[in-house]
Amino acid sequence: METQKIAVLDFGSQYTQVIARRVRECQVYSQILPYSTPASQLRDEGVAGIILSGGPASVLREGSPRPDPALFELGVPVLGICYGLQVIAHLLGGEVERSERREYGHGVLRRTAPSPLFEGLPEEVRVWNSHGDRLVRLPAGFRPVAATENSDFAVVEDAERSLFGLQFHPEVAHTEFGTEILRNFLHRVCGCRGDWSMADFIERSVEEIRARVGEDHVVLGLSGGVDSSVAAALLHRAIGDQLTCIFVDNGLLRLHEREQVELLFRENFAMDLRVEDRAGEFLRRLEGVSDPEEKRKRIGNTFVEVFEDSITRIGEVKFLAQGTLYPDVIESVSIDGNPAALIKSHHNVGGLPERMRLELLEPLRQLFKDEVRELGHELGLPREVLWRQPFPGPGLAVRVLGEIRPDYLATLRLADAILQEEMVAADLYYKVWQSFCVFLPVRTVGVMGDERTYDHVVALRIVESADAMTADWARLPHDLVRRVSNRIINEVEGVNRVVLDVSSKPPSTIEWE
Ligand code: XMP
Repeated sequence: METQKIAVLDFGSQYTQVIARRVRECQVYSQILPYSTPASQLRDEGVAGIILSGGPASVLREGSPRPDPALFELGVPVLGICYGLQVIAHLLGGEVERSERREYGHGVLRRTAPSPLFEGLPEEVRVWNSHGDRLVRLPAGFRPVAATENSDFAVVEDAERSLFGLQFHPEVAHTEFGTEILRNFLHRVCGCRGDWSMADFIERSVEEIRARVGEDHVVLGLSGGVDSSVAAALLHRAIGDQLTCIFVDNGLLRLHEREQVELLFRENFAMDLRVEDRAGEFLRRLEGVSDPEEKRKRIGNTFVEVFEDSITRIGEVKFLAQGTLYPDVIESVSIDGNPAALIKSHHNVGGLPERMRLELLEPLRQLFKDEVRELGHELGLPREVLWRQPFPGPGLAVRVLGEIRPDYLATLRLADAILQEEMVAADLYYKVWQSFCVFLPVRTVGVMGDERTYDHVVALRIVESADAMTADWARLPHDLVRRVSNRIINEVEGVNRVVLDVSSKPPSTIEWE
């Protein structure tokens, strides 16, 4: 059966991705498209419904973003949210006026007429508003169905043409029953079956991958992180031995990291996994380098060389697979002054696909991060992989400050392993964003037994964050901090002091380099 799809047209709202996620939570497949997507394209793709997102612009301003007006003639249900509603009203002959007061925050929505959007919901719901302009006259054919204190037109509809508008944001958690309102639109108005599931996704993806790859060979750079691990598992399910994974041991990995990847993918999944043991090469290139950016650059360049060399030794390869996710590929709109569609291109491995004439295969490019985890779970990947904390590409090189030395790395690995062990034991490892140690190449005086010591310092960096854009240091139980500190100083040779990083981001960053 054909997959039903909802198009979410992006007018630049910070919530556009959240709308798409909510639709998928209702088991309906959604796709974010630029606001200017031609109606003919949407018709050809057979979308079951169209949602116009909010956005920062004002319809009263010249040059503000407009959808293709032919959209309203397709006979496909349309739901406008906030700016989306205002642009519908503006284009169809209603009136929007500049409001004196920006309505921002909670409002209480009261229904004034029956509507399929509110079936099964209470008479009053608390909703979240964030808009400047307001709708003062409805276009012909529309009627109001719910009001707030500040607006008689908080929810409007033209049942005949199946056009709907919400002044508030149903997609945000602050709106009660927001997902139910969207679900009513999807199921009762658009007639979606709500049968999009991860199991279907796997089945469809496997077929698509097989059809595209045919008898050819695919290579994938496995980092051990969530995205590349799930991509590997999905591709392996589809094409088995036609997939080769390359794991580069750059000498900057954590304790037992390489062995864990080998155990999981080679032993458990029986994948063709090539481990490139190139620690010596990476460390040689890093010798005497202490500038953080220079370290990153050298690691990146070396990685591309090693990877390319490894592919050459596999033989005939046609595809390079990557764990690119949906947020990386959405065409984002920038709406400030002149609207222009920017395409965020995912960083390929240093132009390697073009140089080696490899076709890109990105089997996760339709999924959000939490969907990738769900997919990984269905494919049998363990929780330790799916909920692993983020780990930077340059690895421990950005956690040994200044020059990288093998003995510094060895010390850091042991200290870091102790921290992780204690975080897991305290049931906190999966509750924080990241927890790791940083090696400080300064020496301080201490005393152990009767002896004076002059050893290095390890800093604990443990942060809470939602997206790594901002972060705060985690308020861990003091007993835990004490245990970690005691263990590191007692068990790790060369460390006689442990300090706790209590900086927030901004102005600090999560990593020290
Ligand atoms: P910062 O230090 O900028 O880090 O607050 C934000 C998030 O990004 C990770 N990070 C990196 N990831 N290559 C990566 O792949 C890098 O060079 C890099 N630097 C930082 C960091 O661990 C945190 O999650």
